[in-house]
Amino acid sequence: MFYKFAAVLTTLLAIYVYRSGRAFFHHVLTVPNLPEGYFAGGDYRDHCVVIKDEKDNRLNHCEHITFWDHLDEEDHVTNRFVLLSCDPGRREWNTVTGPMNDPDPFGNLWIYSTEFGSLSPVTLTNYPEGHDFHPIGIDVYPSKAGAPSSLFLVNHARENSTVEQFVLDPAQPTVATHVRTLTSSYFVAPNSIALTSPTSFYLTNDHLMTYRLPRPFGSILSTIETIGGPPLTWVAHVTVLPDGSIEHKFAALGIAFANGVALSRDGLQLAVASSSLAKVNFYKRDPSTNDLTLDRDVVVPFGPDNVMYDDDDTLIVAGHPHFPSFVAVVENKPGAKAPSWAVSIRPIAASEDGESEGRKNSRSLKKAGYDSRAPLSASVIAPASSTDEVETIFQSDGSVYGTATTGLIDSRTGIFYLTGLYEDGVLVCYPGPRNV
Ligand SMILES: *[C@@H]1O[C@H](CO)[C@@H](O)[C@H](O)[C@H]1NC(C)=O
Repeated sequence: MFYKFAAVLTTLLAIYVYRSGRAFFHHVLTVPNLPEGYFAGGDYRDHCVVIKDEKDNRLNHCEHITFWDHLDEEDHVTNRFVLLSCDPGRREWNTVTGPMNDPDPFGNLWIYSTEFGSLSPVTLTNYPEGHDFHPIGIDVYPSKAGAPSSLFLVNHARENSTVEQFVLDPAQPTVATHVRTLTSSYFVAPNSIALTSPTSFYLTNDHLMTYRLPRPFGSILSTIETIGGPPLTWVAHVTVLPDGSIEHKFAALGIAFANGVALSRDGLQLAVASSSLAKVNFYKRDPSTNDLTLDRDVVVPFGPDNVMYDDDDTLIVAGHPHFPSFVAVVENKPGAKAPSWAVSIRPIAASEDGESEGRKNSRSLKKAGYDSRAPLSASVIAPASSTDEVETIFQSDGSVYGTATTGLIDSRTGIFYLTGLYEDGVLVCYPGPRNV
């Protein structure tokens, strides 16, 4: 039975390896010629610092970061925190890439004040005893006029992956109070969350064949799925009902390795990273039904991990340019480092639609060499998009900062934040030089 299943699967995979040949060539077979470090805002040596937990060295292996905004009555941002989802034990417990040896040491959340530049661990209260804590994707609703916020996160617990609901109160921002654990047989490999209200969210499911399958199938099949890119994963929309039960509906099917997800500020567009095919899908969202319609996709020069909108609805995408290097880091090979790349994706202004053919042609000629400032231009790897502008924000061969997962830009200050799945600390790059 299992062998028959595997045979059918192999055939399907052969078809999709063909379809994902471009991504396979660039992100598996070719080592990208990346610089030690590059930041679009200026020399990385004096613009970027890695902020660490100097005391206990626990701010490590962070998967996700998101802003927690405090708004006034008029929805103006009065204060902004960065919330970080980290797991120093990731080398022993990673349900996406393996290994799954030891789920015991808990991961942790951190909160960073953009106002004071101060970092604190977040303590969990009311957390169920004996329940593992391995946070991956997180999202938190903004706090309006001092009201508490709801925080949801994906938890890669030992038996199965769950979604945890917490409350974060601006009066006590370093304490997250647990509300409930959501579990569902639809949560096969949940990864990333984008809230649509304080009690509902989009949720990506990154694999159909997961590392959790019995050995050796788990590691083999999930790796085949990662590299082959069969369209077996999805985005769901989940609503938590007042009694704590959930309503689950499939919102977008047929995605290859659906990874990060983000909702635009106006709530009308959803971005979903398709890691295996090295592209980002943009869906139009119907806010009344949460239904999604594919609008366009944009190729990026790496396997995108998480996607985050900035204040101007420019999408920041971070990810992994070279899969085998990433695996070498996961496997803790001596001296292994895995590169990082982060880009912005911005729709080409609508006004340009009405331009003459001649201008269009000259623009597409120019676009062939888009992203011309970066040491390794995205244009060398990813064909130019006719709908969107792609530009490098940060790149590194892994020596300055590797295994990039989430990039964030605070549009108010121009500060760029980046997490690395196997890095210690978070990279912060300032628009001006730092004399540190
Ligand atoms: C996931 O595991 C927990 C703890 O063992 C269990 O209570 C829950 O029912 C499981 N969920 C599913 C969908 O199997």
